[in-house]
Amino acid sequence: MNSKSAGDTTDGRERYTLLAIVLHWVFAFLVIGMLFLGYYMVDLPKGTPNRAFYFNLHKSFGVLAGVLILLRLYWRLTHPVALLSTGIQRWTDKAAWWNHRLLYLCMVLQPATGYLSSSFNKYGVKFFGVALPSWGWENAQLRDLFMNFHHLISILLVALIVIHVLAAFKHLLLDKDQVLQRMLPWSEK
Ligand code: HEM
Ligand code: HEM
Repeated sequence: MNSKSAGDTTDGRERYTLLAIVLHWVFAFLVIGMLFLGYYMVDLPKGTPNRAFYFNLHKSFGVLAGVLILLRLYWRLTHPVALLSTGIQRWTDKAAWWNHRLLYLCMVLQPATGYLSSSFNKYGVKFFGVALPSWGWENAQLRDLFMNFHHLISILLVALIVIHVLAAFKHLLLDKDQVLQRMLPWSEK
């Protein structure tokens, strides 16, 4: 943010706390990894060795992500982040606001729909080998319904992440401000 209007207090230089930064990057790798794994495993023909292994791995890390995102959200809601600009709300500020909230929403809904879909499947959910409670019964229609949501949310996630990463590099390369540096643990305040 180069333009400083009257009332600006931060100039985009306030950093996130170290915990917020660590959580951001853990989730970035986790979610991108889960997207790759998800698209990879659904293309494996039935009967492929290790297919079940990949599905169970996906479910295990997905459940982990689902629990961690609730903790992250709780932390985020109780630790507000300094605003980049307290002056005029530019459309890019609003776009970032929506991008971040939609990313959080997808990170909650994606594990939930995955869990629900698997709960209506005879295989259920195992967390690194331990069977977890099923939230449903065997029902192909409900399994497919939640899996359709799971699929749609994954597309939305990909779109939001692409916009998010492009915006981060726009800040770094074109705006030449401190927005990306706010999210890096080693940068100076
Ligand atoms: C951050 C969390 C998650 C992400 C990003 C994610 C992403 C994906 C993606 C991209 C696919 C492929 C979708 C398609 O092409 O149709 C997929 C499939 C699947 N996911 Fe997830 N997932 C997550 C969490 C979970 C969880 C928690 C479960 C269950 C406990 C789960 C169960 C499944 C199953 C069973 C499939 C395959 C469905 C089929 O056979 O078509 N996912 N996931
Ligand atoms: C190379 C990849 C990524 C880069 C360079 C990046 C960069 C950033 C930056 C610079 C911010 C701070 C923006 C600001 O202060 O206005 C941010 C925030 C955020 N990022 Fe990323 N990000 C990446 C990947 C991801 C992924 C994969 C996700 C989620 C799936 C994600 C979710 C978020 C969320 C939810 C926030 C808002 C944090 C908050 O205010 O609580 N990011 N990211």
